Amino acid sequence: MKNLLTDLKTRVLSDIEGAESLEALESIRVKYLGKKGELTSILRGMGKLSAEERPIIGLLANEVRDEIETQMAEKRESIGEARLAKIIEEEELDVTANLSEVRVGSRNPLNRTMEELEELFRSMGFSVVDGPEIDTVDNNFTFLNFPENHPSIEMSDTFYIDEKHLLRTHTSPVQVRYMMSHKPPIRMVSAGRTFRFDDVDDTHSPMFHQIEGLVVDEGVSMANLIDTLDLFVKALFGEDMKTRFRPHNFPFTEPSAEVDVSCFDCKGEGCPKCNFTGWSMELLGCGMVHPNVLSMCGIDPEKYTGFAFGMGIDRITMVKYGIDNIRLLYDNDKRFLQQF
Ligand code: PHE
Repeated sequence: MKNLLTDLKTRVLSDIEGAESLEALESIRVKYLGKKGELTSILRGMGKLSAEERPIIGLLANEVRDEIETQMAEKRESIGEARLAKIIEEEELDVTANLSEVRVGSRNPLNRTMEELEELFRSMGFSVVDGPEIDTVDNNFTFLNFPENHPSIEMSDTFYIDEKHLLRTHTSPVQVRYMMSHKPPIRMVSAGRTFRFDDVDDTHSPMFHQIEGLVVDEGVSMANLIDTLDLFVKALFGEDMKTRFRPHNFPFTEPSAEVDVSCFDCKGEGCPKCNFTGWSMELLGCGMVHPNVLSMCGIDPEKYTGFAFGMGIDRITMVKYGIDNIRLLYDNDKRFLQQF
């Protein structure tokens, strides 16, 4: 038995010595140490040994196995190192290689649209300002004249952080912040993320984007609002686009309106996309700033009037670029981004 073991050890060690790859090493391991391996079957035969012999042989067998395992580990490491050395020696970095296969994304169309909108309003004399995505319940609802029982205030519609803070449900709280910190004349826009409890589908997401505008001065009228937005729509989508103002209701504006624009596909002719109406619905919400809002924000409603408007940037991006699934805007998949 003893001889069997020492003989086995010599053979294994010389096999290991000669192994040139990790695969060869693995088959050596299976041959000797595997379930049906030689050493395994020797160990199995130990039951037949006498009580005196058993511990001596057992000890020797363990030594042999340890030795084999140590040698294998060392060999494994040296094969790895040799392979790396070979790679380093054989492969060189070709700085002139054609890298056309490397996929690089591009600016997300949503950010592009957002910047384009800001730039457009800047060119019309508006300041571009920022507001926080987490705001107070007061800025988001109370100071915007929401009645206490308004459905949007419900927990089921809005993401609350605690009783006094929430993820803003629209960009309108930036109006409040701006009026509280600036005196008229005011002409500002603010774009950014907004959040509402909504299930995801092709056109809805609980996180979306809006741009908000506010103008406050002496003598600002509904005519100014209509003219500004009509000009804006023509600048954004083309001179042949028309606007239509439909009465609506927002707590913070009075009167309020929703604005439709000519159908993007048929430009007003009538086609299946617009149900042959020639109009694409609800591009934005707007109205004359409610006197209650002006006074809650420290502006004298007897002296000043104003108009405000807000619109979804995701939707505008989707019609502009012909994107039919809102999720694509947020995935940042390079295959998608590369198209723009
Ligand atoms: N905040 C409104 C919304 O999210 C849009 C709006 C803004 C309407 C400003 C009127 C004036 O639907």
